[in-house]
Amino acid sequence: MRSTMMPSLRGALLVLLGTTAHLASAWPTVSPHVTVVRRAEDVSEEYDYVIVGGGTSGLTVADRITEDGKYTVLVIENGQFWDETGFDLPRVYNILSEPSPALNNRSFFVGIGNGVGGSSLVFGQVYLRGTEDEYAGWAQLSGKKHSTWNWKGLLPYFKKALTLNPPTPEQVEAGNIKFDQSYWGEDTGLYATFGGGPVTKWQQSHYSAMSKVDGMETPEDSASGKAGLYWYPLAQDSNYVRSYARTGHWDGISRDNYQMIVGSKVSTVQFDEDLTATGVVFTTGNSTEARTVKAKREVILAAGAIHTPQVLMLSGIGPKAHLEAVGIDVKVDAPGVGSNFQDHSYIPSLEYSFANPPSDVTPIPGPGYGPDGAPNLAAMMGLPVITPKKYKDIAKRYSQQNPADFLPAEYTPELIEGYRHQQKFYTSLMKSKNVVFNEVMLTGPSAGVQNLHPVSRGTVRLNPADPHAEPIVDYRAGSNPIDLEVMVETVKFLRRYYTEGELAQYGVTETLPGPDVVTDADVDAWCREQITPSVFHPVGTTAKMPRKWGGVVDEDLFVYGTKNLRIIDAGIQPTLIGATTCQTVYAVAEKIAEVILDQAVNPPKCKVKRDGPSQ
Ligand SMILES: Cc1cc2nc3c(=O)[nH]c(=O)nc-3n(C[C@H](O)[C@H](O)[C@H](O)COP(=O)(O)OP(=O)(O)OC[C@H]3O[C@@H](n4cnc5c(N)ncnc54)[C@H](O)[C@@H]3O)c2cc1C
Ligand SMILES: *[C@@H]1O[C@H](CO)[C@@H](O)[C@H](O)[C@H]1NC(C)=O
Ligand SMILES: *[C@@H]1O[C@H](CO)[C@@H](O)[C@H](O)[C@H]1NC(C)=O
Repeated sequence: MRSTMMPSLRGALLVLLGTTAHLASAWPTVSPHVTVVRRAEDVSEEYDYVIVGGGTSGLTVADRITEDGKYTVLVIENGQFWDETGFDLPRVYNILSEPSPALNNRSFFVGIGNGVGGSSLVFGQVYLRGTEDEYAGWAQLSGKKHSTWNWKGLLPYFKKALTLNPPTPEQVEAGNIKFDQSYWGEDTGLYATFGGGPVTKWQQSHYSAMSKVDGMETPEDSASGKAGLYWYPLAQDSNYVRSYARTGHWDGISRDNYQMIVGSKVSTVQFDEDLTATGVVFTTGNSTEARTVKAKREVILAAGAIHTPQVLMLSGIGPKAHLEAVGIDVKVDAPGVGSNFQDHSYIPSLEYSFANPPSDVTPIPGPGYGPDGAPNLAAMMGLPVITPKKYKDIAKRYSQQNPADFLPAEYTPELIEGYRHQQKFYTSLMKSKNVVFNEVMLTGPSAGVQNLHPVSRGTVRLNPADPHAEPIVDYRAGSNPIDLEVMVETVKFLRRYYTEGELAQYGVTETLPGPDVVTDADVDAWCREQITPSVFHPVGTTAKMPRKWGGVVDEDLFVYGTKNLRIIDAGIQPTLIGATTCQTVYAVAEKIAEVILDQAVNPPKCKVKRDGPSQ
């Protein structure tokens, strides 16, 4: 198993995450936490809240809602307390995607975290936020006049979540580093820190060259909700140790009202006759004996964008036709569960040779970590910057598509209607400058390109042969040809940047894709062989949208058609932001934690109407 997945892992590791050596920072074994329940039999019969998944969102919300000691909480986590962090088995699930026909039938590794801390335990630590325009889409796609799910409504929670350790004066001076503490919190327990090493000559050359690209802005902070060229921090503390959900929201916490059981997999949510969630069923370790735990107030799903849909579908909440085909009793026909699946896609590397490089030292590609790693520089740009000549044409042709022509055949009219609204929003994004379609990490003679707003949509479905085994993940990458077109233009942008702009003075020639790849058709063919449709940022599979548009959760993240059941993980994001996703997951978790606490005291009035299509 392992050897088949390694080739696809390798590219991802090298380019996105740095080398494994940088990643596998050891974490000492902690003594048993007093609130860890060792055996399933010792789990209490009932808690106020049961949280499924001790990952990024789960640990954040669990911490917040146990703070005042009023409510009892149990977190159930499939993975373990690992001693090490970083991207490797068994800290990630071993899931291989369906082949994507538009990408020469290649399959891809679906790397997501499996352990206390979830994906933040293994993630690349690149800390970026989306732009104001991108979050505006979340409000727009709520179908409501006044939604607080936008940049303004999220900013206080970004600040509640994260503290920035500023760059040193030397780094600021050498790199023109702009930062603004007003976008960050103070002493939050989770930290963002710049690599501790000096800014390199390569980066200085890149900064100078990229800042001269037409339309490139230099925003006041990496986290100011603006696209452009900026330096960004990593998820590490002031000692350059990974700062993640476990260090920020679990280690050192000991509360009588807060328990966790690990190595335990939730299979289903239990409901009473009126579809009020009453608890969950789970198994621990290799035991086949299922155990039930009750939730007096709520069941909160935080199993991530791949597994939350699985738990829902196993519980009878999902697309009717699919559940029937798999032989599961349908409780709520929810076509959006496991649909609207999106991830960022990328090409790991375009490579150049420099006759007279700016420095003799060839930097490693990707972010620099730790005390010696350089602070990181990225150019985050919209389509008008990538392809000033073609963006209007691409947007126009995209807006004229009939959505059903490109969506999975199984998508229901609601899902197609929901996509129609996304199409309208994406058309405006394609013409906006304050949006990020392409993120380039600028380190040296090679760089990757990304498409952060793919318009293709995939599915996460149960495996009919064994619904409890890992779900079937189908990216359907490139199923909408606009995505290939955007990627081709993005590759052409990077080629121009390296060989025709200010960098040309260094005598640059391209070695990959190289001189044989000339026409747009050549580039397209090369892209189909190179694109990886996941940067491990799956979202959208339980989208916060109106039910009549195929949404799964409402504005309070309650699941339509049920009571006392919420989803808080990355799956609720209706559309991808043009940035890595972790900060946003924290912000959403902080925001919903306040709602949960508030609604514990002031129950929402519209409770029984929640399933109505009148959103
Ligand atoms: C390899 C990798 C690299 C990444 N790089 C970056 C990056 O550089 N920057 C960035 O901002 N973001 C990055 N991300 C994305 C970011 O980490 C995620 O978007 C975010 O952590 C998701 O949080 P979540 O709460 O939705 O899910 P997770 O944090 O994945 O938590 C889900 C948890 O639920 C558990 N679980 C699943 N099913 C069950 C079940 N049935 N029963 C019990 N428990 C269950 C899982 O084990 C897991 O712990 C990366 C992710 C990965 C995997
Ligand atoms: C992909 O697989 C399908 C089904 O097996 C096949 O029809 C198609 O020709 C393949 N495409 C490529 C590019 O190999
Ligand atoms: C569970 O089963 C696996 C595979 O059979 C085995 O390697 C592992 O040791 C078992 N774990 C426990 C806790 O018994």
